[in-house]
Amino acid sequence: PELDSSPPFASTLDVLANILPSKLLNPKIGIVCGSGLSTLASSLRDVVEVPYTALEGFGKSTVLGHKSALAFGLIGPGEGIPVVAMLGRFHPYEGHKMSTVVYPIRVLARLGVQNLIITNASGGLNPKLAVGTIVVIQDHLALPNLTGPLNPLLGPPLTPDYPRFLPLSDAYSVKLRRLAFLAANQLSLPEDALEEGVYAWVSGPTYETPAEGRFLRSVGCDVVGMSTIPEVVAAREEGMEVMVLSLVTNPVIIPDKYRSIKEEVKAELAGKPIERPALQTVSHDEVLIVGRQKADVMKDLVARIIELIPTD
Ligand code: 6GU
Repeated sequence: PELDSSPPFASTLDVLANILPSKLLNPKIGIVCGSGLSTLASSLRDVVEVPYTALEGFGKSTVLGHKSALAFGLIGPGEGIPVVAMLGRFHPYEGHKMSTVVYPIRVLARLGVQNLIITNASGGLNPKLAVGTIVVIQDHLALPNLTGPLNPLLGPPLTPDYPRFLPLSDAYSVKLRRLAFLAANQLSLPEDALEEGVYAWVSGPTYETPAEGRFLRSVGCDVVGMSTIPEVVAAREEGMEVMVLSLVTNPVIIPDKYRSIKEEVKAELAGKPIERPALQTVSHDEVLIVGRQKADVMKDLVARIIELIPTD
């Protein structure tokens, strides 16, 4: 890959320091709001929103259902905990460079974010995961040959302080995942509202073919989506604790057998009646609708998790 020019951290941080009151400037907790999940930020008070267009280095978010701003605010009782939420994210399929996709994550790290809660919408591969289930991600699959040369850490490290080979065997914080299940219990969510599973990352923007869905399921993946993993990788490189909450918005269609056109033509030629099964597909509208339906549960869960994170 080409060498990127050095990222404009100083300028971005300077703009934020000039806009934000001091009580909002050093959030320890960050949230990334996925498709249809920007309302997660409605638990925040004293909010200051900074549009991405005001921040050098940020891309332009082009996906419907994504706002394009950082929301700074307070959450929880008393004087409150400062939090920053990304309303909308950048995906490689929009044409953004990988360095742009993870730039906001690196800015969050430089603001002092230590715990990052990432949300997304995903397709369910595991038939046990009903639409509307929230999955606490425990691992991911993002093999280079599935996603092309799309690793945010390709190229020279930003500075020599960064590791050349980042381990990801402990990418998903056990501390934060435990708090997610404790929070679900405190909110009396039904047992099957929060599950755990492995996220398969694909570049998109095409949804999976049946063969691809079957492949991902057969190699042990529970959900599939087009975001998040670059952010996880960069956040781990920046030293943050990371958790991912993935909302299953639709099942990935994996028929156990193909409709045989050869057999249908044979039947047709023999004058036999043939059954034509209805075509099933995924649509972005379906993804946004389930996102909106479940946004309140996600919002309460994220707010409760944040209140459970020990402040130090
Ligand atoms: Cl079915 N596939 C992918 N790749 N991403 C999704 C999805 C499916 N549903 C929501 N996001």
